[in-house]
Amino acid sequence: MTMTAAYPALRLRRTRASGWSRRLHAETVLTPADLIWPLFITQGQGVEEPVASLPGVSRWSLDGIVARAREARDLGIPCLALFPNTPPELRSDAGEEALNPDNLMCRAIRAIKDAVPEIGLLTDVALDPYTTHGHDGLVDAAGYVENDRTADALVQQALTQARAGSDIIAPSDMMDGRIGLIRGALEAEGFHNVQIMSYAAKYASVFYGPFRDAVGSRGLLKGDKKTYQMDPANAEEALREVALDLGEGADSVMVKPGLPYLDIILRVKSEFQVPVFAYQVSGEYAMIEAAAAVGAMDRDALVLETLMAFKRAGCSGVLTYHAAHAARLLGA
Ligand code: PBG
Repeated sequence: MTMTAAYPALRLRRTRASGWSRRLHAETVLTPADLIWPLFITQGQGVEEPVASLPGVSRWSLDGIVARAREARDLGIPCLALFPNTPPELRSDAGEEALNPDNLMCRAIRAIKDAVPEIGLLTDVALDPYTTHGHDGLVDAAGYVENDRTADALVQQALTQARAGSDIIAPSDMMDGRIGLIRGALEAEGFHNVQIMSYAAKYASVFYGPFRDAVGSRGLLKGDKKTYQMDPANAEEALREVALDLGEGADSVMVKPGLPYLDIILRVKSEFQVPVFAYQVSGEYAMIEAAAAVGAMDRDALVLETLMAFKRAGCSGVLTYHAAHAARLLGA
């Protein structure tokens, strides 16, 4: 870095001295177009079920989901991420409901595409909202999640979602090799423009707790997900995961959770110069809400500062439960 002058000729506070100048010198911008809004789907009609561990977040029946899609469009949010809360009687060991073309996810995709065709839909590929054991894949007798059998099921799940109208397939399961298999299957069925956003660097994190409440898998989960999700101690391995998924045909990659892993975002972006997204996950949302609720920090400022941090670190966009609120704060 070249310094052109030294103090007192150089005073970095000069450009910070007024609002117009701060705006003029901002290196990063945050707009509603940077946001992806995750939504939880539930059965029925006219149903809103608040998620206790995510104050301000609800599961919506299809009519409510469509209303949220209209809201997002009006706020300039380009894309929604959909997650179903599968009724208990439709969950099974192998999660076959994930492959049902009339499951909650597919019905939501079709309902939104009918009503609000201009909004993008990102759909999660993993079996955990559909299994009785809460794991993302198929487990063997010892409880180990089997990679290759799971990957085959995920290919079918991805195709089911693409046929229903998904725009972005987002595998969140962390099985080896699944991106290439899904890409191949999408190409073979003519879904050339269906994107894949890989949850490439997804850590085995305590921050997913409230999400598991939202999709109803928390009480079901046997053990943990450490044999497939990454160890929070590792960064080099995240670069290998990203390289692998890009090589297999991912259009963009995700780092998850978000804020505690900004170093990973920066390293991935510096190394690969591809579109990188962060998932500001449920536990991060819950922390912000808890801090705001006790008056420790200002909610709106926290929301905007954390989202800006993702952009500064190199993200193209952020999945956040605060998307609609943030878009309003940004003046949408
Ligand atoms: C499931 C999945 C999880 C999240 C997104 N997809 C949870 C998990 O892996 O257990 C977490 C999102 C959040 O916490 O907001 N494959």
